[in-house]
Amino acid sequence: MTLGGWVNIRTLLPVTQAGVKIRPLTHSDAAAYANGSHDTDVRRFAHLPEPHYTPALVSEQIDSIITPGLIAGNLAVLAIADNSSDQFLGSVVLFDIADNRAEIGFWLAAAARGRGAAHQAVECVAELGTRMGLRELHARTVNDNTTSVRTLTNADFAPHGNAEIGTAPSGEQALLQHYTRSL
Ligand SMILES: CC(C)(COP(=O)(O)OP(=O)(O)OC[C@H]1O[C@@H](n2cnc3c(N)ncnc32)[C@H](O)[C@@H]1OP(=O)(O)O)[C@@H](O)C(=O)NCCC(=O)NCCS
Repeated sequence: MTLGGWVNIRTLLPVTQAGVKIRPLTHSDAAAYANGSHDTDVRRFAHLPEPHYTPALVSEQIDSIITPGLIAGNLAVLAIADNSSDQFLGSVVLFDIADNRAEIGFWLAAAARGRGAAHQAVECVAELGTRMGLRELHARTVNDNTTSVRTLTNADFAPHGNAEIGTAPSGEQALLQHYTRSL
């Protein structure tokens, strides 16, 4: 069955787009993931559930949460990697997978920004969503996160409704805009 929540997402990976791929996280990504997650903008804007990541915690979560989520088809925490070197560039997540819809979140390590990798990764996720049988992707971003807004609108996401005050990943109250893209 290829409706959200029921497909083994590992069987649909990797997905590639120009110079970037999305693939399962491996233990060899753990140090780069932990390091990237400490970046100020990632802490401020990305929806990371843990307050502080270490390589050991990332490895433990790959085994206890991330791999089971991929197999069950209800959570996809993935690596964004360089297509030729396989080097970890950042991470993208598909969560709240239900009713043929899912929400997307993404971040890049500071050194991997400014070269279109986020746009390519979002296009990879759109292709993955199609393979999963999803019909719509959602995203929420803080209004003044211009780079994220541009990444979403460049990838054909459109604002849905009005921005509303909500709790940003930083814990602060902020204007959050909801975006959607049909698949
Ligand atoms: C969001 C993120 C993944 C974008 O990746 P990136 O490689 O930095 O993005 P780019 O440099 O390709 O920029 C994307 C767009 O934003 C624009 N942009 C970047 N900085 C900008 C600024 N200060 N003002 C206006 N536009 C800006 C770029 O010009 C580009 O738009 P264009 O292609 O139409 O020219 C990255 O910045 C990041 O990891 N940020 C921290 C985590 C985060 O915010 N995640 C999203 C949570 S919803």
